[in-house]
Amino acid sequence: KDNVKVGLLGLGTVGTGVVKMIQDHQEQLAHRVGCSVEVTKVLVKNVDKKRDVELSKESLTLDPYEVINDPDVDVIVEVMGGIDDTKKLLLDALNQKKHVVTANKDLVALYGSELLKAASENGCDFYYEASVAGGIPIIRGLADGLASDKIKTLMGIVNGTTNFILTKMNKEGMCYEAALKEAQDLGFAESDPTSDVEGLDAARKMAILARLAFSMNIELEDVDVSGISSVSDSDLKHGQTLGYTMKLIGYADQSDARAEVSVQPTFLSNDHPLASVNDEYNAVYVYGEAVGETMFYGPGAGSLPTATSIVSDLVAVITNMRLGVNGKSISAPQFEKQLKKPEE
Ligand code: NDP
Ligand code: HSE
Repeated sequence: KDNVKVGLLGLGTVGTGVVKMIQDHQEQLAHRVGCSVEVTKVLVKNVDKKRDVELSKESLTLDPYEVINDPDVDVIVEVMGGIDDTKKLLLDALNQKKHVVTANKDLVALYGSELLKAASENGCDFYYEASVAGGIPIIRGLADGLASDKIKTLMGIVNGTTNFILTKMNKEGMCYEAALKEAQDLGFAESDPTSDVEGLDAARKMAILARLAFSMNIELEDVDVSGISSVSDSDLKHGQTLGYTMKLIGYADQSDARAEVSVQPTFLSNDHPLASVNDEYNAVYVYGEAVGETMFYGPGAGSLPTATSIVSDLVAVITNMRLGVNGKSISAPQFEKQLKKPEE
């Protein structure tokens, strides 16, 4: 193919970043994948909304099936959010032999296995690097880079909104409500920020990471979750005077075929490496039996950082197309294989 066509579901914070990156990095992408890449159809809720990207009005549609059924579209990029309706759309897309790239951790945490199975049955790719820790390549890090090791522990900050709020409260004395509002204005928060502040977004991401790291079928209900909505300014100040910083920490540990996964507000000593991860930045500490300690760090939310992961997934899909290995690539993370239930 000389020209790969992308159908985009959603043109908000992340979708806008995807369009900008594909347009601004055209030359580099063409060099990398050997063809041009173009966004041709885009699903939105409101076609008249003012947009911060250059796209013809004709490319916008209110009908998802105009994107999914378009015979010219090769790859669907899903950045609209949602669970059940979105799952149906993506299954329909895969059944029509469209490759799928998504940033939707809600969907991957609940239905990742089913979607990966549908992708593989259709000879399609299903990639979801952007679903955890925005611009940090942690999915590939676990699925490929550390695939040879026995991963024992994951510990990290995997929600940008709550880290931004805690940083603003800690360092600038901002109140919780104002800090949340700023995180929303900057596009870090979910459309309903309850899942950020109550820890559910981080729990979904930890379930995705723990499955990959431990090759276990860890469900969302296996994750013990608390958020930061009841953390007060005085809790943080009290910790600071004693030399501790509060962070929302995701923790996953495996030993003797048992796994434990949790998300909890945690006081870290100020000299702990995760204590200095600030604003919307994320970091994931990974301990592997052979490699020892590793740390993945970078922007965990936001338009262009998240778009970087999505467009890199697109590069993988197009490379697989050229090699004729879609749905078979060893780098396609598949946690359905070799499932082990933790022993009781
Ligand atoms: P936004 O709310 O900014 O954008 C959502 C987009 O999808 C909008 O363009 C909206 O249309 C469109 N949309 C939503 N529902 C529908 C629908 N039913 N029919 C048609 N169009 C629809 O969300 P984000 O860009 O922030 O997030 C998108 C996804 O990426 C989510 O799954 C989120 O969890 C994930 N994500 C977000 C990150 C971030 O930093 N924001 C980082 C990593 C992942 P319209 O513009 O017309 O309103
Ligand atoms: N709302 C999410 C966060 C977006 O704040 O981390 C990135 O997944």
